[in-house]
Amino acid sequence: MPKLIVVNRAGEEKSVEGDTGLSVMEVIRDNGFDELLALCGGCCSCATCHVYVDPAFEAALPALSEDEDDLLDSSDHRNETSRLSCQLVLTDALEGLKVTIAPED
Ligand code: FES
Repeated sequence: MPKLIVVNRAGEEKSVEGDTGLSVMEVIRDNGFDELLALCGGCCSCATCHVYVDPAFEAALPALSEDEDDLLDSSDHRNETSRLSCQLVLTDALEGLKVTIAPED
């Protein structure tokens, strides 16, 4: 079970675990972070699961799709480490990944 470090909007860090194959969004939500709304349920159409990911893990992350890129562009808080957490599938290669929940748009 890969471990993730989740940083909430208050800047508090919590270490959580999730099953491989789940999305990072599901792991964050299942661990009680209700500020990650994930309104569309993970079908890449809302951008309310926006997180910043540790750049050290960039190579282990799936490529950004055009849809994800477009949705992230709709956020005022996009930066170079922005991803939609529903598009990131948890794998063993992501052990120790740190994700920070982005500010609400
Ligand atoms: S949950 Fe809607 S885009 Fe990720």
